[in-house]
Formats: sequence, structure tokens, C-alpha cells
Amino acid sequence: MALAFTSSSVIHGSLSSSSSYEQQQPKVSQMGITQPMDRSRIPLKAVNFTQRSLAMKPLVPLAATIVAPEVEEKAETDDYEKLAKELTNASPLKIMDKALEKFGSEIAIAFSGAEDVALLEYARLTGRPFRVFSLDTGRLNPETYQLFDAVEKHYGIHIEYMFPDAVEVQALVRNKGLYSFYEDGHQECCRIRKVRPLRRALKGLRAWITGQRKDQSPGTRSEIPIVQVDPSFEGLDGGVGSLVKWNPVANVDGNDIWNFLRAMNVPVNSLHSQGYVSIGCEPCTRAVLPGQHEREGRWWWEDSKAKECGLHKANIKDESMNGNGNGAVHANGSAAVADIFDTNDIVSLSRPGIENLLKLENRREPWIVVLYAPWCQFCQAMEGSYVELAEKLASSGVKVAKFRGDGEQKAFAQKELQLGSFPTILFFPRHTSQPIKYPSVKRDVDSLLAFVNALR
Ligand code: ADX
Ligand code: SF4
Repeated sequence: MALAFTSSSVIHGSLSSSSSYEQQQPKVSQMGITQPMDRSRIPLKAVNFTQRSLAMKPLVPLAATIVAPEVEEKAETDDYEKLAKELTNASPLKIMDKALEKFGSEIAIAFSGAEDVALLEYARLTGRPFRVFSLDTGRLNPETYQLFDAVEKHYGIHIEYMFPDAVEVQALVRNKGLYSFYEDGHQECCRIRKVRPLRRALKGLRAWITGQRKDQSPGTRSEIPIVQVDPSFEGLDGGVGSLVKWNPVANVDGNDIWNFLRAMNVPVNSLHSQGYVSIGCEPCTRAVLPGQHEREGRWWWEDSKAKECGLHKANIKDESMNGNGNGAVHANGSAAVADIFDTNDIVSLSRPGIENLLKLENRREPWIVVLYAPWCQFCQAMEGSYVELAEKLASSGVKVAKFRGDGEQKAFAQKELQLGSFPTILFFPRHTSQPIKYPSVKRDVDSLLAFVNALR
């Protein structure tokens, strides 16, 4: 990765000891719109360290290859829980300054969206040198690439792009096509195109800075701390605790970010003016309507609880769940989790039971059957609506059933029952042997009922 520093003395020349830091800093407003940090500590020239001319040092291709200079303190000796509490009411500008001060050239801003432009602006306002990296998945919108270019020019920086491994992308696309994530969930593609490149980038750092906000995703981000020891990724020294994660805008709401961006007149993604709020990769992002939550425009075909791509794995509480709803069956193929869809209205089919159903040409009544795995979060998410569907259909002449299709049944379910990912929902009409696969990812009771009523 490229270093945008000209000399470490520029960085460390501006350091103040962390204990006296609070007293030394001027009071800034919560969003720090008008008051840059006290630049008297920093020669004005140093502020320009990110200019292209200065940043034209030979680019080092991978973060992991950087040999970083000395840092103020070792990350693991600090109590980041305590620091997070101390900084709860601090402005993002102050938090940014603290982060850059502590980690110098061994910290970088993860750049992608609007919040991250705000991060760059705060970084600029601190007057300290800063590094920026971005994960180019190869599937970003043209408008996003234009933003990257505009940001590089606006700040006079080089973004340190990270790319996915070509062989891994090739294998995924050759085996499963360009849009496999619509079929079996976004996790596999995200792992290859985002998470692994991120892991590589972070291995060259001791800390990173993200633009996550609590109100971005009530399901997964409501407890993001200002700063934490990263529980998922490793830094330069390797091992648990070797990386610190800063979220300076964790407590800022979306409107305030936008007020700040407007006030500072900085580049933003032109897709925002077309109804896009949270922007990721092109095939996995769409505009949202007024009143819709921003996260609804991301991976909209999946359950909202799963809307983390793995960059921020720690946000997902139950790591035992398999995020792609498809692959990792627990060790012996059957996890020790409680069964689901467990009511009298839902018939539990055994293997001979469903084989029988498959063979019948003339059934007495139609059946709807969910192929599921109890550990699958998508199955768990649709449990309520499927149980309600069963109640509604209880005396309608349509049988509602379930078949557990993981473990040793998986190969059979894939071959004979069109199992792609969990849950797969099949309708067995009265007079045809071939079941009809429910084609949608809308698993609310009304959508399921409409499907049944259209075919019964
Ligand atoms: S995601 O996990 O759903 O993709 P989101 O788009 O909300 O993340 O962004 C949250 C933060 O993750 C961003 O503010 C940014 O710091 C980081 N991030 C997301 N996508 C990228 C990317 N492509 N490159 C670098 N950082 C990213
Ligand atoms: Fe792949 Fe979509 Fe994830 Fe981008 S967001 S890496 S295209 S699954």
C-alpha cells in the first residue's frame, strides 16, 4: 500500500501525549463543521502531505508488505473499552484526531461511501497525514469509480486500492456465473471480493477507521463503539488484539453527515441524487423510496438480519450461523440447534414421506413444503410467516409441511428437490408429479399465500 507520508518526523512532530490530549484540544461542535483542529501544532506545509506530488513515492502493492515505523504505544496495552466510553460524546473530528495521533502511518481509512468522505474531511481538518484504502470488488457502479477519482483529486491523495484474488474470482464466476449471489446469498461473493482483500489490507496495519453508523442498520450496528479492539481481523503483529477499529461517526445520524458534506462542499457519489442512500456493489444495491430504510437498498432479496457482507463481521451477534444460508453445515451435518417450524399445523416429512410425495401423480390435496435447515438464519427468519401460513391453511385442503434438507439429506434434496439454498419452498400441485419451486425471496405470509392460491 502506498504511504502518503514524506517523513515520520512530520507525523510525530505533531504528536501530543495522549494523557494531556483532552486539555490541549479546542472545543469543537459535534460535527466539527467550522472548526479545524488547532493547526498551530502542525506546520501548514505538513497539511499538504497527501498531495499527489508528495505521495508519488513508489507504491507498495500490498498492505502486508509494509514495514511500519514506530508507533506511539502498542495497541494491545490500551484499554479501548474505557477509551470508547471516554470518547462517547466527543466530536468525530476529535475522535479522528485521536486515532491518527495514536497510530500515525499504521492506520488507514476504509473508503467507500458518503460517511467515508466525511471521514476524509475530518482527517484533513486534523491537519495530520492520513492514509486511505478502498476495496475495489470489480462490481462497483461507474458513479462510484468517478467518486473515487474525484476524491483523489479533491484531497490530492492516492487511494490504496485492494483487489480480489483473480483466481478466486475466476473460479467463482466460472462455476456459478456472474450473479450467483441472487441464488445462494451474497456471502460467498463478498468473501472473495471484499473480505479477503480487506483481510490482506488490515494485515499491514495496526488500526483502521470506518464510516459505520449506529442508525445505518438497527439489526446489526446499533451497538458499534467509537473504538474497539477488532474482534474479527488481525493487524500487523497477528493474533487477537493486534488490530484496533475506529468508528468516529458511530453516533452521528445520517442527516448530520449530509449537512456536514454539504457545508464542506466535498465530492459525493452522484447516485445519491437518484435515490440511492447506502451504496455497495452495483448488482447488490438499489435506490430506496422515501421513508424506506437505507439498508433496504442493499441485498434486498435477503433477510434484513443478514445484511452484513463480512467487512464488519463483529456486528453479527451469532457467528454460529452460516451467513450464506447454503454451505457450511456444522461438522457432522446437523447442528445442535433446536428444530424450527415446530407446530401441529406443519407436517414433518421423513425421507420416505417426501419420496412418496414426489412419486404421486394424483395427490388428494396439494402440498407446500419448505426444505430447511434449523441453523440457517434465513429459515429462522421465515419461521413466523410459515407458521402463520400453516395456521391460515389449516382447514383449506392444502397441506403444509417441512423437510429437513441438510446433512445427509442434502445431496438428495439438491438432486431431486431442486434445493439451491435454504430455505427452498416447493408446491406439489394435485395433478402433477413435478413440484413447483417458489421463485421469490419474499417470504412474508401474504406472498406465500398468493403463491399457494395461484397454484392450488
Ligand atoms: S457493508 O459492509 O455493508 O458493505 P457499508 O457500505 O455499510 O458496509 O459501509 C460501512 C463502512 O465499511 C464504510 O463506511 C467503509 O468504512 C467500509 N467499507 C464498505 N465498503 C468498502 C469498500 N468497498 N472499501 C473500503 N471500505 C469499505
Ligand atoms: Fe459480490 Fe454483491 Fe458482495 Fe459485491 S456486494 S462482493 S457483487 S455479493
